Parts: sequence; C-alpha cells; structure tokens
Amino acid sequence: ADQNNGSDKPTLKVVTEAGFMPFTYLDKGEVVGFDIDLLAAVMEEAGYNYELENVGWDAMLLSVEQGDADLAIAGVTVNEERKQSYDFSSPYFESTHKIIFRSGENITSGQDIKDLKVGVQSGTTGAEAVEKILGKNADNISKYDSNTLALTSLQSGDVDAVVTDNVVADEYVANNPEADVEMISDPDTFESEYYGIMFPKGSDIKEDIDAALQTLIENGTYAEIYKEWFGV
Ligand code: ARG
Repeated sequence: ADQNNGSDKPTLKVVTEAGFMPFTYLDKGEVVGFDIDLLAAVMEEAGYNYELENVGWDAMLLSVEQGDADLAIAGVTVNEERKQSYDFSSPYFESTHKIIFRSGENITSGQDIKDLKVGVQSGTTGAEAVEKILGKNADNISKYDSNTLALTSLQSGDVDAVVTDNVVADEYVANNPEADVEMISDPDTFESEYYGIMFPKGSDIKEDIDAALQTLIENGTYAEIYKEWFGV
C-alpha cells in the first residue's frame, strides 16, 4: 500500500495493526481497509509519499510515541489518557463498543457480562470498558495481544464474550455465520468515542493532515470512501 505521490515532501513512515477489519486488515497479504483507503486519500491530498508497515498494536503505539513512525492509523480512539503521549488529527469516525457472545448466553445489557469470562484486546478502550464493569484486575478478563486473538478465543470457547468496537463486531458477526454468536449494544454502558490519526507529540505534520482531512470531507471524497466500505 506504499504510495508515491511524486512530491518533494519527506516520505512518511506510517504504522498500523492490520487485525481490525474493516478498518485495517490483511487481504492476501496486503493491508487494506477503510482506514487504509482514507490514509491514501489524505496522503495524496496533503502531497506526502509514505511507506506503510503492519506492526503489532504495542509496537505501533511505541514507535509513534518514540517518533520512529510519523503516524499511525488503526481505528485508534482519541482519549484524554492517550493525548498525554500523542497528538491526534481531528476525528474521522465515531465508534462505540458491542458485546459479542455465544448464542444462548442471556446477555441483554453491559452489566450481564460481570460473571462471564470476557476477552478483550489488551491496551484498548474496549479493555478499559470491560474493566469498568468487571473490576480493574478481575480474574475473568482475558487480555489478548490482538483483537483477532480475542475473537478466536470466543470461537474456541476460551471466553464467553468479547467486547470490541461496534463496526468491527458487526463485520465479524456478518462474516462468521458458522460461529454461532450474537451481539448487543448498550448505550447506557458503552460511551461513544472517535477515531483519530495518531502522531508523535509535537508533530509538525498534524496541521497538513488535518487540512487534507477537512478537504476530503468537504469535497465528498470521505463520503465516497465511506460508501465503498459501508454502503451508505
Ligand atoms: N478503538 C479501540 C482503541 O483505540 C480499539 C482499536 C484496535 N485497533 C486495532 N488495530 N487492533 O483502543
């Protein structure tokens, strides 16, 4: 997915964690997704060349924090805690959490997972949301290095439920009819949040990127990409 826009601006190093379908994931070894298409459009608009690398979630966060990477895009939620260590673009996507659980469990609200074994991706807002319900170091929270692993564990029966971003949950359930799972949302338990492109603190490209994002929203390009992925 590297891109050469033929500009004389520096080539940016972009990192992602491609285990978050439909935002960033691997298709035949290639990193694709809504975020990846948005990235390409933003970079073209802003006139940057870039190289995209799929690294782990923790490696992604670390390399941006240390300034080894210029930016990350991976369905990353902007929140106060992360703002201490990173800069963010203006928001590009609204999200919340959903619970996916094996059919048959009686789960009708966020509070119903209290006594279940719940899988989350470690270091995510989903993990935080579950800690709020189950308790910070609760024994029945299983933390995985990737969201993909958390979902695999639901399928194999290692956990009873997984809490993850709503659109990712929708995609998983739609793509895995054989998994025999259900999902619910619960706006009383799960707040709405926003994804942003993440930069090292003090980044000098943030303004360029925000301006490009704004242009894409105004000129309909964002809506086109959105439609390609979400059909509306
Ligand atoms: N939006 C959530 C967060 O920022 C989950 C992001 C997970 N992204 C990923 N590529 N695995 O904490």
